[in-house]
Amino acid sequence: DVPGVIFSGIQPTGEPHLGNYLGALRQWKRLQDTAHPKTKLFFCIVDMHAITTPRPPEEMQELRWKMMASLLAVGLDPDRCTIFFQSTVPQHAELQWILSCTASTGYLSRMTQWKSKLNLGENATLDNLGAKGLLKHGLFSYPVLQAADILLYRTTHVPVGEDQRQHLEFTRECVTNFNHTYKTKCLVSPQTLISPTRRVMSLTKPGDKMSKSDLSAKSRILITHSPKEIAARINGATTDSLNTVTYEPEARPGVANLISIMSGFDPQGRSPEQLGEEMQGYKIRELKEAVARVVSDQLAEVRERYAAFESDKDKLRKVSVQGTEKATLQAGETMAAVREAIGF
Ligand code: ADP
Ligand code: NA
Repeated sequence: DVPGVIFSGIQPTGEPHLGNYLGALRQWKRLQDTAHPKTKLFFCIVDMHAITTPRPPEEMQELRWKMMASLLAVGLDPDRCTIFFQSTVPQHAELQWILSCTASTGYLSRMTQWKSKLNLGENATLDNLGAKGLLKHGLFSYPVLQAADILLYRTTHVPVGEDQRQHLEFTRECVTNFNHTYKTKCLVSPQTLISPTRRVMSLTKPGDKMSKSDLSAKSRILITHSPKEIAARINGATTDSLNTVTYEPEARPGVANLISIMSGFDPQGRSPEQLGEEMQGYKIRELKEAVARVVSDQLAEVRERYAAFESDKDKLRKVSVQGTEKATLQAGETMAAVREAIGF
C-alpha cells in the first residue's frame, strides 16, 4: 500500500449507464475513498476520443457538461481528484504523435474496438476499408491516444471495465517500444485494475455489452433515470421463454444479466450465483421487480446530486479550470522528460 497514480477516462458521449457505473465510476469513487492519502487520482473526460463520432458543437458542449455533472454526482471530490477535460491539456495530442512514431500498426489492426464500432467481425482486416472511406484514421489510432492519456501522468494503476483489457496491454507495448527506442525509462508501465463487477450486458441484446453508442436507447439504463423509467426498461428486458429464475449465464444470458445487475447493486454484496440460488423458483416478473427496486434505491442519491450539479454551470466551470491546472502541471513534467529523451 504505497502512494501511486491512478488514471481513468470516460467519453462524454451520453449520460453514464449501469455498465459505466458498476464497471468504472463506482470503482473510481471507492478508490478515492480508500487509496493511500498521497496517491494522485486523475479522472479525465475524454472529449478528443468522443469526436471519432462527430456531432453538432452545441450537442458536444452539452454532453461534456453532463459528464462533468455525472462525475461529481457519483461522489468524486475535485479537491481530492483531478477531474478535467482531455482537450484542455494539449500534451495528450503531443504525446500521442510521439508514441505513434514507435507504435505498431499490426498490433492496432488486430484490436477489436474499431471492428466493433464499424460492426465488423473480429476477423475483419484493413483491406479496402480505408480506401472506401469507412475507417477514419482517428478511430484506428484511438488506442494510441488512450496510451498517451495514461502515460502522461506516469500512471501506476488504471481502473477500467473488463472490455478495456486489450487497450491496457497495448499501452504497455507503447511504453516498451518508446523506452527501448530511446534507451530511456521515462515512461512508466501501468497496471490494469479490472473492476470486480462483471460486464453489464445490453438489456435488449444480452450478447452485447451495454454501451452509450448502442442505437437502441432501450438497451440501457442511465444513472439519471427515474424509478419509473428504470422499471419500464427492466420490464422490457429480453429474457427467454422460461418463466422462472435460474442463473445460467451461457444458456440464459438475459436472465443472468438481470441477476448480475442485481448483484452489482446488492447492499449485502451477494454474488450472482448466490442470488440465483436464493431466487430459484421466483417468476421472471418478480425478478424484474426486485432488480428495478434495488437499482432505483441504490441510485437515488446519485440521481439527486446529478440534478443539482447539472444546473450549476458555475460550479462545473470552476471544477474544469481547477482540473486543467493540476493536470497541465503533471503533464508538463512528463513531457519535459520525454522531449529530453528524444533530443527535442
Ligand atoms: P461506452 O462503451 O459506454 O461508450 P466508455 O468507452 O466511455 O463507455 O467507457 C467508460 C468506462 O466504462 C470504461 O472503464 C469501460 O470499461 C466501462 N464500461 C463501459 N461499458 C461497460 C459495460 N457494459 N460493463 C462494464 N463496464 C463498462
Ligand atoms: Na466505448
